[in-house]
Amino acid sequence: MLDQQLLQALEQVVGEAGLVRDEQRLQSYLSDWRNAYRGKAALVVRPASTEQVAAVVRLCREAGVALVPQGGNTGLCGGSIPDDSGTQVVLSLTRMTQIRDVDAGNETITVEAGVLLQRLQEAAAEAGRLFPLSLGAEGSCTVGGNLATNAGGTAVLRYGNMRDLALGLEVVLPDGRIWNGLRGLRKDNTGYDLKHLFIGSEGTLGIITAAVLKLYPAIRSRTTAWVALPSSQAAVDLIGRMRALCGDRLTGFELMSRQSVEFVLRHVAGCGELFAEPHPWYVLIELSDTLPDSPLAEMLESGLGAAFEEGEALDAVVAGSEAQVAALWKLREGISEAQNHEGPSLKHDISVPVSRIPAFIAQADERLQQAFPGVRIVCYGHVGDGNLHYNISKPLGSEDAPFKAQAEAIMHLIYDVTAAFAGSISAEHGIGQAKREAASRYKDPLELELMRSLKQTLDPTGLMNPGKVL
Ligand code: FAD
Ligand code: MLT
Ligand code: ZN
Repeated sequence: MLDQQLLQALEQVVGEAGLVRDEQRLQSYLSDWRNAYRGKAALVVRPASTEQVAAVVRLCREAGVALVPQGGNTGLCGGSIPDDSGTQVVLSLTRMTQIRDVDAGNETITVEAGVLLQRLQEAAAEAGRLFPLSLGAEGSCTVGGNLATNAGGTAVLRYGNMRDLALGLEVVLPDGRIWNGLRGLRKDNTGYDLKHLFIGSEGTLGIITAAVLKLYPAIRSRTTAWVALPSSQAAVDLIGRMRALCGDRLTGFELMSRQSVEFVLRHVAGCGELFAEPHPWYVLIELSDTLPDSPLAEMLESGLGAAFEEGEALDAVVAGSEAQVAALWKLREGISEAQNHEGPSLKHDISVPVSRIPAFIAQADERLQQAFPGVRIVCYGHVGDGNLHYNISKPLGSEDAPFKAQAEAIMHLIYDVTAAFAGSISAEHGIGQAKREAASRYKDPLELELMRSLKQTLDPTGLMNPGKVL
């Protein structure tokens, strides 16, 4: 229940259209895409401008009410979901959808936090440019959420993650002041780079309302292939080979285990087998160039030819049309959705040094199968970033309850192996509420102490997305 006075004051700021109170309409803000997290909220507020966000933050701070920032609600760690007290207010940025400026000469675009990633990509294309961040949820996730989670995706090996694509931010601080850091500068060495504090902070330090982002030259040629491999080591060897041959033209290199692909074949309409027989591993390779007639096909042929000779590759399909390119990406991007149809699952978004991916997989697979026989390992990811989605589905035909009871032990086993390989327990999805306990266990205590003191400095009342990250 929300204090009536606060409710009226919020309504004065955002108008009736900016409040969601109806039980049915509230529901989509209160649980995540997988239905893995569910909370309650007193209200959802949807401000339409930075000034309105600032006013909402000030009012909630005065009333001692906690805020949960939310963009497209596609996050995978429960970061945008309120707790179950029913006292928190969800602050949705989805009405802040202005593209404020495109500066072609500076190769930048300035957008508000609620702009969908896909809309941003389209706006860049309309300006004859590329905005390279690309991920399966791009039709629903927002720029604010991408920044707050420092999102990665499938083009990081060439262009970097969201942190690498941001030049400036506008942020409403927990005390309601507006920090205008919307500088489109590629060089600015005037002390601490504050934008990096907010990028990846998952709504715990302030509310990102707008950003200046980098643009890149548009892509004019592309070659996409699906390649069958005998082992994950072959994927590491092949990415090294392709990089040496193509340099920056290698813009996608995604790894999928047979199990991952089988789930997609079973559950995602329009996806079919590409080869006569199953293979243990597959990679999706994408080469692209800003030149219209770049010799990408020849490069791919040369790289794959050598890989076949060395036994690194077993079979390959090269897309011959845009429709086939889309079909190959669907086979890859469909894994998250497909895994949902196989019952409860555990997501582990880990990273290790690229060279250690095969050893990590071997050790994690062996220890898991010994300790939890029958669990299904759905391993896939972004090889160039050393980032594996080492997800686990319950054993075929088993009840949900015993698997759920083992969840914590499975997670600790996988994170113990990750730690043994000097890896990270979150490569791109963040901590949210899902990995809070794990972060306190696996992250350097000194780093956690520094994080806590930054949180205390910026948000001394602790009203900004409490219960997340720290
Ligand atoms: P939300 O889910 O709404 O919020 C995420 C976090 O950011 C929360 O902590 C929230 O409080 C905070 N937040 C949101 N907006 C703001 C703001 N304006 N200011 C401050 N804090 C804010 N992620 C990847 O990195 N790589 C992938 O390849 C990838 N693939 C995915 C595929 C699928 C099918 C799905 C469903 C998700 C995938 N994700 C991936 C996860 C997700 O899409 C990203 O984390 C995305 O960046 C979240 O954006 P969002 O707008 O949905 O944020
Ligand atoms: C992906 O790369 O498809 C997502 O980040 C992984 C996931 O949904 O677990
Ligand atoms: Zn991913």
